[in-house]
Amino acid sequence: MRDLIKPVSEVLEPVLIEMGLADFDSKSIIGPATDKSHGDLAIPCHQFARILKKSPVEIADEAAEKMNEHLKGIASASSVAGFLNITAESRWLADRLSELVEHPTNGVERNSTRTVVVDYSSPNIAKEMHVGHLRSTVIGDSLVRILEMKGNTVIRENHVGDWGTPFGMLIERLEDLESEGIQPSDALADLGIFYRDARSSFDSDENFRERARRRVVALQSGDEATMARWRQLVDLSFSYFDEVYELLGVLLTKDDVRGESFYDPLLASVVERLDERGLLSNNSGAEVMYPGDWLNREGNPLPLIIRKGDGGYNYATSDLACIIDRTERLGAHDLVYVVGAEQKQHFQMVFAAARIAGFLHEEHTSKHVPFGLVLGSDGGKLKSRSGGAIRLLDLLREAIQRASAAVLNRNPDMTPSEIESIAKSIGIGAVKYSDLKADRTKDYVFDWERMLSFEGETGPYLQYAHARIRSIIAKSGGGASVENPARYTLPSNEETRLAREILAFPDAVDTAASELAPHRICKQLHRISQAFGSFYEHCPVLIEDDSLRVERISLCALTGDILKTGLELLGIDAPSRM
Ligand code: ARG
Repeated sequence: MRDLIKPVSEVLEPVLIEMGLADFDSKSIIGPATDKSHGDLAIPCHQFARILKKSPVEIADEAAEKMNEHLKGIASASSVAGFLNITAESRWLADRLSELVEHPTNGVERNSTRTVVVDYSSPNIAKEMHVGHLRSTVIGDSLVRILEMKGNTVIRENHVGDWGTPFGMLIERLEDLESEGIQPSDALADLGIFYRDARSSFDSDENFRERARRRVVALQSGDEATMARWRQLVDLSFSYFDEVYELLGVLLTKDDVRGESFYDPLLASVVERLDERGLLSNNSGAEVMYPGDWLNREGNPLPLIIRKGDGGYNYATSDLACIIDRTERLGAHDLVYVVGAEQKQHFQMVFAAARIAGFLHEEHTSKHVPFGLVLGSDGGKLKSRSGGAIRLLDLLREAIQRASAAVLNRNPDMTPSEIESIAKSIGIGAVKYSDLKADRTKDYVFDWERMLSFEGETGPYLQYAHARIRSIIAKSGGGASVENPARYTLPSNEETRLAREILAFPDAVDTAASELAPHRICKQLHRISQAFGSFYEHCPVLIEDDSLRVERISLCALTGDILKTGLELLGIDAPSRM
């Protein structure tokens, strides 16, 4: 209800002056009411008590009385326990609603004009994607959609781990398997097993280790046969990643891939630029930088390793090259990294180093967007049924399969292809919503029953609310073009409640964009759906009274549109039947 602040502050300002409180800025002391049953906005009057030598209750009483004279047509003021509460009038709500209906993007202003790079998903080649990559993919994709809707130019980047010393052992493993007559595509059919076996040869076999070392050198020098092997690893891994992306329906494409290999040619110049500025020092043969006061476990200064003793570069070096590329070549203003919380210190150090080195300037922001773990029902790490690591593809397929049983159950008459498509929307939507609905920094428990339920804070609940609205509109004969009333009247409490929740949608999108927090949208969509539920229960839509019928159908359509837009921002489908 941010729109209400301006007209209320205009009324509040002269009242403050009259009461001898001219020093207070009327706009900044008004905030949203924490208890919505008291009003839409609240002004705590405790801050005036000492100045006026009166109790907060007396002050709130007096201010409410003075304000009510001038708030007519907008809101009413009341005094509750030392707070001055403001409640919008239904006329005011009705007018805002009419504006929202006319607005091209459901009231969300496209007023941000930054260029933002969102670094997300970023799995590692020849390694299974883990649930952390799933979270990064789902959260990152939603942030891209939200930032785009706000008007920003958004560049997606999939910073895959496709370079570095592990590739020596991975290529040698591929060679060994092929000499045993195993096709590369079969060798990489299960990335988890492939990586595990490569690592175990590397750890146990001196001869293999030596071959792997030589392979790294060959890779660094661009040896043709080695590069071909590397390509093979990348392509076969991507055929797996792409399957996951396809099921998830994310925006990421091949063109968004900017792996570590992309930055490799730029690493030498990173070292040069740091060196020119005298920022490098030697630490037992390695070239390092000390960007701040970080300490290691022994309490000694913690270095950021730029170049190892053997001449190899580090993860941090690659991230510095990546910052230069994003700010200098792409002209990005804001850098957003959707990566697990365990890399917090890495990003803090890299960002600090980039500031000191002049790769990031005042006009740039860089943000690590961390997220918590996905837990199994036992509170430990999420595991597969056999106790091993989860294969993401299996997880997503299971979601669809479970949803398809539910869809068939509800709609015995649906064709198999309809069921398939709706089950995909519901199953994937359920996984995404359960990942997005809570503050992303928190861990969450992966629970099939709960996430697929049509009740509660779930994806299917919102999708169902949307589908139900579509069917109500179809039954009303409204179809695609719903007639809007000349003016809403909002005669009942259920209608004003729904109006309030709808009007809060643009605020939720703004907050989600500024806090990089998709759960703000989840929460608001849930509130809208609940308000719609009680509206639909109490306010018959298909009634005789022409003008009220038009108004109610229009409210249904507006709710449906907002739910669809909101779900889109979360990357969740909104099927019209389910
Ligand atoms: N590939 C890394 C991992 O799996 C994540 C990369 C994140 N992006 C970055 N610019 N460092 O942990």
